[in-house]
Amino acid sequence: MNHSYFGKRWILSSFLLFSITVLLTGCEERKVTFMKKNIGSALALYPAPTVVVGAMNGDKPTWTLVGHVGIIGHDKILVSLASAHYINQFIKKSGKLSVNIVDEGILSEADYVGSVSGTKVDKSEVFAYELGEAGTPIIHKAPLTMECSVADVYNTQGFESFICSIDNTYVEEEHLNEAGKINYHTLKPVLFEFPTYEYLKTGDVIGKCLSFKKNPEEA
Ligand SMILES: Cc1cc2nc3c(=O)[nH]c(=O)nc-3n(C[C@H](O)[C@H](O)[C@H](O)COP(=O)(O)O)c2cc1C
Repeated sequence: MNHSYFGKRWILSSFLLFSITVLLTGCEERKVTFMKKNIGSALALYPAPTVVVGAMNGDKPTWTLVGHVGIIGHDKILVSLASAHYINQFIKKSGKLSVNIVDEGILSEADYVGSVSGTKVDKSEVFAYELGEAGTPIIHKAPLTMECSVADVYNTQGFESFICSIDNTYVEEEHLNEAGKINYHTLKPVLFEFPTYEYLKTGDVIGKCLSFKKNPEEA
């Protein structure tokens, strides 16, 4: 009898058994860990506030609806625009734009300026406006408008994201509280989500920030 042959077979079988066990245990663990379905790389940071961006084309304004806006630090906002949009050239030329919050009162006009391009249609008369102190068009009916200056442009494939500082903020007085702060109980931006392309209302107040117990077990 060749003992070393059987010895080798025993070692090989034990190794195989060990590997299968590790693999099965691993699979079992993975099933438990991944309770959610992985839907791949999805743009999922929604709902987001919807704004109408305005810029001056000579002595006329042009307007574009934008859902991809964000906050950078405590003094800058980001407005992400497809490079081919008509409005971009005027933002780049003047270095200025207005960011008008969309509420339900201006939703139909806002939706319209998101459906047609200034390359095909003159959108200058869609909103009544006046120029702010920084020279950007402020929509009369918008509850709040920020006049912005372009501080930087972040380019990605097909998009120009304008990093903007905020020069002036015009708010309807009915949306300021007694302390002079913007009151989002009354100012209700329309929210937008891309996956099913819908507008949503803002939700209910569920509590003051930092009012929850630090340790939930203390409850
Ligand atoms: C709800 C909604 C949200 C939109 N968000 C964006 C956006 O974040 N960025 C963008 O580049 N275009 C966005 N668009 C598309 C532009 O508003 C649209 O293509 C517009 O006609 C471009 O106008 P312009 O070529 O006159 O600049 C959005 C459209 C809709 C309806």
